[in-house]
Amino acid sequence: MQVIILPSTHDVALYAADRVVDVINTKTNPVLGLATGSTPIALYEELVARYQAKQVSFRQAVSFNLDEYIGITDSHEQSYRTFMNQHLFDHIDIAKSNTHVPLAESKDAIVLKKSAQDYEASIQQAGGIDLQILGIGLNGHIGFNEPTSSFASRTRIKTLSESTVAANKRFFKAGEYQPQLALTMGIGSILDSRAVLLMATGKAKAEAVKAMIEGPLSAMCPASALQLHEATTIVLDEDAASLLALKDYYQWCELKRQQLYEGSLT
Ligand code: PGA
Repeated sequence: MQVIILPSTHDVALYAADRVVDVINTKTNPVLGLATGSTPIALYEELVARYQAKQVSFRQAVSFNLDEYIGITDSHEQSYRTFMNQHLFDHIDIAKSNTHVPLAESKDAIVLKKSAQDYEASIQQAGGIDLQILGIGLNGHIGFNEPTSSFASRTRIKTLSESTVAANKRFFKAGEYQPQLALTMGIGSILDSRAVLLMATGKAKAEAVKAMIEGPLSAMCPASALQLHEATTIVLDEDAASLLALKDYYQWCELKRQQLYEGSLT
């Protein structure tokens, strides 16, 4: 894994934006895997700013989001479709028809299973994901792949863990229906992406980050599955990196990489 430790959350967003723009500008039909949550908001703000500054166009881009709550409409205030429209899609030139978020409004298992299969098929049809953006949950989840998710899992129905429901409670009004199930891309689906970029910021994520990078491969930390991916970058602020045992080594690696590419290696 490439582990990059940057001074601030803003630097993490800038780094992620550079990677996204690089995919957009080097591929003819770029396919992005996108994530919701508070962490990628700064990335989306930066992408909107670069679009407004005419530094990037998303006209050729296709996107697939990781997950969606089951049982609420697309237009619900808390749906991940609404989140993506509000934070990114409404402000850039991507064709809405090229943006995909799992369709999970139904509460019928057969309809949901078909929707999950169709989602996998449309990722394939688009040629697979070039760059998958991820956050990490306090419990080590990626997408809504909660602890004990299979490393081979595909897009499917998943019951949210108690800690995830509690962490997301703040977004729902008192007494409002809060979904406890989601349709999520699987860990196997995520590992199929050509490259993965996981962003984590803040002290609260330090334990999960340590388990992901330095812990054993374990279904108890779904993000540890990324150790199996040959092109994973983990980009962290100082707080999220604070518990890493080999922090100095990761910084040393980045220095050597820079020197190698700049031709200044001694
Ligand atoms: P957060 O969520 O970015 O809001 O911390 C990350 C996640 O649960 O995947």
